[in-house]
Amino acid sequence: MTDVQKGLEKVIALETKISYIDGERGLLEYRGININELVKLTFLEVSHLLIFGHLPNNDELEDFFNQMHDNRDIDDEVLNLLKICNFNIEGMDALRTIISYLSHCDQDLNDNSMTANIRKATKLIAKFPTIVAAFHRISELEDVIHPDPSLSHGANFLYMLKGFRPKDIEARIMETDFIISAEHELNASTFSARVTASTTSDIYSAIISGLGTLKGRLHGGARLAVMEMLDEIPSPDEAEKYTLDLISKKQRIMGFGHRVYKTHDPRGLIFKKLAIQIAKENKDMTWYDTAQKIENTVFQEIVEKKNKPIYPNVDFYAGVMYKYLEIPPLLATSVFAIGRIAGWLAHCIEQYGDNRLIRPRARYIGEHEIHLRK
Ligand code: SDX
Repeated sequence: MTDVQKGLEKVIALETKISYIDGERGLLEYRGININELVKLTFLEVSHLLIFGHLPNNDELEDFFNQMHDNRDIDDEVLNLLKICNFNIEGMDALRTIISYLSHCDQDLNDNSMTANIRKATKLIAKFPTIVAAFHRISELEDVIHPDPSLSHGANFLYMLKGFRPKDIEARIMETDFIISAEHELNASTFSARVTASTTSDIYSAIISGLGTLKGRLHGGARLAVMEMLDEIPSPDEAEKYTLDLISKKQRIMGFGHRVYKTHDPRGLIFKKLAIQIAKENKDMTWYDTAQKIENTVFQEIVEKKNKPIYPNVDFYAGVMYKYLEIPPLLATSVFAIGRIAGWLAHCIEQYGDNRLIRPRARYIGEHEIHLRK
């Protein structure tokens, strides 16, 4: 038996062809294509790449596009269910509830064949944005906006969320967010989904495992925590003091650090560029300047002084972008999930395709041979 690796750090649990991370060089590829190349595509093309293993040709893209649009809308039962949700919950909690309900309505629920799982995967990718947007509109007592088949995944989400078409730069940023958030090897929520799939449970159950795991603030919940942190800092001028105070209390700076990257997270670098673009478009540098001050303070006080590789991860500038896109903080992690659903599904399909039950051991350190009192 191997030695205990707390948090399974550095443990290679399985082999995958879906994505590759080089944490030392700050490199990320999906199916061998660098993330800096992938952001030039659409989220539908990248979802196809992740699930089918190749970029779609024109016919495949049109077919995938049509299937996606045929499945985007949600029916009245789902809307009624959303109306009885507690409105103080996060988008993640609403998603988890609705996906659970949708599983009851799927006649292929327990069919783990490739054909059935591809059909369910398309349905889930299509519906995540609509569920999140509808939950928000209903919780704000606003009319639900139904999907617009002419819009891209990113543009359509913002349209359903706000009730009007986004500017091109906003649509591009949302599309890029979904592409970048889609996949990241064996992160906690993807691992959780694969463990569930490895028992041959259904793919809805595996996705619900992923949703419950992504919500945590050490994982996708950091996006919400970053937005809350930005809201707590009155102005960019007070960001350094705020950050120094957190560091002095030995508190984690949310949106920083990573289990795998020991240099800049390449996704954080892309989001930082998008954040300054949207800030300039909005003619308001507030959130960006505040974020920059936080980053500079962490760099000086932790990276340089303590020699620890605590750089902005995927969630830090994502939170800044969401402030400019006026995405409510309680939706932040569910917006992350709108991208990540594609990666979860690809990993579940890969797991079903070459499965062995995932069941590690634990080292028992308790007492032995305790006898019951007569
Ligand atoms: C995501 O795995 C993935 O791929 C995840 C993800 C994906 O795409 O799926 O990339 C998405 O979840 C990104 C991470 C989002 N989480 C946060 O931003 C929360 C804040 N970050 C941390 O809590 C932390 O960095 C983790 C959880 C992300 C990683 O933690 P590790 O690998 O367990 O590292 P650790 O807790 O052992 O910390 C090592 C050292 C510690 O110092 P010492 O105790 O050795 O003195 O680094 C310090 C930590 O105190 N440290 C931080 C810090 N993160 C680590 N110090 C200040 N602020 C931080 N954010």
